[in-house]
Amino acid sequence: MIRLGVNIDHVATVRQARGVTYPDPVAAAALVEMAGADGIVVHLREDRRHIQDRDLAILRKTVKSKLNLEMAANDEIIAIALETGPDMVTIVPERRQEVTTEGGLDVETHFDKLKEMTKRMHGRGIFVSMFIDPEPRAIAVSKELGSDAIELHTGRYCDAATPDERQKEYERIRLGVEEGLKHGLRVNAGHGLNYFNIKPIARLAGIEELNIGHSIIARAVFVGLDRAVRDMKALIREAERDADAPA
Ligand code: PXP
Repeated sequence: MIRLGVNIDHVATVRQARGVTYPDPVAAAALVEMAGADGIVVHLREDRRHIQDRDLAILRKTVKSKLNLEMAANDEIIAIALETGPDMVTIVPERRQEVTTEGGLDVETHFDKLKEMTKRMHGRGIFVSMFIDPEPRAIAVSKELGSDAIELHTGRYCDAATPDERQKEYERIRLGVEEGLKHGLRVNAGHGLNYFNIKPIARLAGIEELNIGHSIIARAVFVGLDRAVRDMKALIREAERDADAPA
């Protein structure tokens, strides 16, 4: 069964918009877990625009499922990760001006840094994943640098302007899953997934985990977090059942 990791960054975005103490992502994590999520994902950005150091420290103590820290491979954040000890880190590129993570990590250019960082994370018992575009070279290099997993960037599939383009991007992801498995990597996927585009992705055999944030928190504004998480879990289950059904 595909696991659902829920990214709660945007609970913190609402808090930071006013610089107050609510809504608290720590409370959100507890509700999300009770609704059946398989993991909690947070991105501690260099500019601290949403998740704060305090959130990560408390979540480390309160999360009962799995804490996945999204982070750039920068020295300050690496030190925080090593000290905090999340169950898993997902390494993402980070540009200050971006609205959200815009593309996959350039694992070739940053090979040495990523390899050294991965080794340090492993020394602390932390599972490592690289957030990359679904491209054979990026997948092979992620394996070469010692990563345990890859998270395939689904943003281009989600943003596709035409059905043809969407199909093309979907095919890239499908092949990316195959390629990742061939290299012995665990394969996750995420970014831009919502209640309307999730099913084809959740039908892809071999994906272990889907990491979803914005659409779930956005729906929670209207229906509550519990319902928003359960609705997403139900769609993922339906898609898996469709995939298993005889043709
Ligand atoms: N996976 C990764 C690596 C991300 O950087 C993000 C965004 O923080 C997500 C998944 C979730 O994306 P979205 O908020 O669009 O669901």
